[in-house]
Amino acid sequence: MDFGMKNRLSRIFSPKTGKTVMLAVDHGYFQGPTTGLKDMKNITPLIPHADCLFVTRGILRNSIDPRIGTSVCLRVSGGPSILGELSHEDITTSMEEALRLNASGVGMSIFVGAKNEDRTIANLGRLVNEAERYGMPVLAITAVGKEMVRDARYLALACRIAAEIGAHFVKTYYCDDFHKVVEGCPVPIVIAGGKKIPEMDALLMTENAIKAGAKGVDMGRNIFQSDNPVGMLKAAKAIVHRGASAKEAFEIYKGSKKSATAEIERVDESMEKV
Ligand code: 5RP
Repeated sequence: MDFGMKNRLSRIFSPKTGKTVMLAVDHGYFQGPTTGLKDMKNITPLIPHADCLFVTRGILRNSIDPRIGTSVCLRVSGGPSILGELSHEDITTSMEEALRLNASGVGMSIFVGAKNEDRTIANLGRLVNEAERYGMPVLAITAVGKEMVRDARYLALACRIAAEIGAHFVKTYYCDDFHKVVEGCPVPIVIAGGKKIPEMDALLMTENAIKAGAKGVDMGRNIFQSDNPVGMLKAAKAIVHRGASAKEAFEIYKGSKKSATAEIERVDESMEKV
């Protein structure tokens, strides 16, 4: 592995812990203005608390302050919307663009077992070929179609294929027996959060995934749709980087909710005096 590749990976995975808390805000690329991401200004206060931001070039260019210290992993695939056949995805963003945007990684979805699995897996191969010319890490996302069961057998198959084709890290869903998915995959795995669930459940899922060998999270809805997104990021970081339990992390989430509320009340009070 050359310097550029290692250097970029160290901007995603903390060199101290080897793990990462990525904030996924790419949902609009096929879902449109998703709840929590309608106004991307809401994301600004969250960015400093994440190790890496997973985002499309359109949002990066239009809504993100270029002076952020958080690294960027660029979603470079797309094509179909939620109204179409999702597995028709192709590569939408060039490597030149990823380099110009100073991305530390690029990510795309593969659709194992879906209509166009071969096309998306071949696209991953092409993306890796190109990315490696520039020392750019590739994240493969094992997207799961409606008809697919999210069990260890299926997810292990999808993650292993992603790694065999050359992905440098893989994002997948948490499932029972997750250690089997990790064991079969020679590159780091991060988990997506999936649909919004109660905060404690999302933190428990994170704890279980880390205990089973995941190297972090690339979480979206369970962060930005929470009533305390910064608290959730801090809580996830405590689990991922410090090995905190979900119970301990939940206290962090609740605590920073109180301090966020206190801060809002303090500002409201001082506004009343003006
Ligand atoms: C969509 C994605 C999302 O980034 C991923 O699903 C993470 O978001 P969430 O935690 O909301 O599931 O890759 O294909």
